[in-house]
Amino acid sequence: MKITYLGHACFEVVLKNKTLLFDPFISGNDLAKGIDIDKLKPDYILISHGHQDHIADAVHIAKNSGATVISNFEIVNWLLGKGVKKGHPMNIGGKFSFDFGDVKFFNAVHSSVLPDGTYGGNPGGFIIQSDEGHFYYAGDTGLTYDMKLIGEYSCINFAFLPIGNNFTMGIDNAIIASKMINCNKIIGMHYDTFPYIVIDKEEALDKFHRVGKELILLKIGESFNFQK
Ligand code: NI
Ligand code: MN
Repeated sequence: MKITYLGHACFEVVLKNKTLLFDPFISGNDLAKGIDIDKLKPDYILISHGHQDHIADAVHIAKNSGATVISNFEIVNWLLGKGVKKGHPMNIGGKFSFDFGDVKFFNAVHSSVLPDGTYGGNPGGFIIQSDEGHFYYAGDTGLTYDMKLIGEYSCINFAFLPIGNNFTMGIDNAIIASKMINCNKIIGMHYDTFPYIVIDKEEALDKFHRVGKELILLKIGESFNFQK
């Protein structure tokens, strides 16, 4: 499985010969100027919630690539109304089998309104289970005891967790989350993009290291290969 960081909370994940794109916010991110959104050709775009810093480039990339958008019911309908052709609506707790693996839409403790003020349904995250590995993409969320359930649903090989604090969990709560989900390999996201969420990366790496867990902080454009 190949994971590429595209800045903020946006990742491209290639598994089972399908390309998944999570929370595209690239053209508006000053730190991601080196990424050309027209070169992205995902098969699926997964969107955790309606905020601008997660959905800004979704319509453009979906139209350009013909990707199927997977999100909550309200967000998928909003995107279809903007001319996106293919969508798959889900809601909290539901699981569906796609050609790359199973997706479960898991709750996040956050808010969700679309850029034009439309109600964006409940925010969520995704648990992906495929032959090539299992992972959790948390979306924007605070620490919640519900995360304990994830360790019971499946064995998670790695997880994308927000670590920037202020709008989501910070490092210390992400460490507790990683214990709850029973996962030792965490890919950090939702940090440094805005002044409110700038973190001390050395301190973050050190804190995870001290509890015997690995925090991976990718450079924008950098990839990471996961082998089960
Ligand atoms: Ni948000
Ligand atoms: Mn956000």
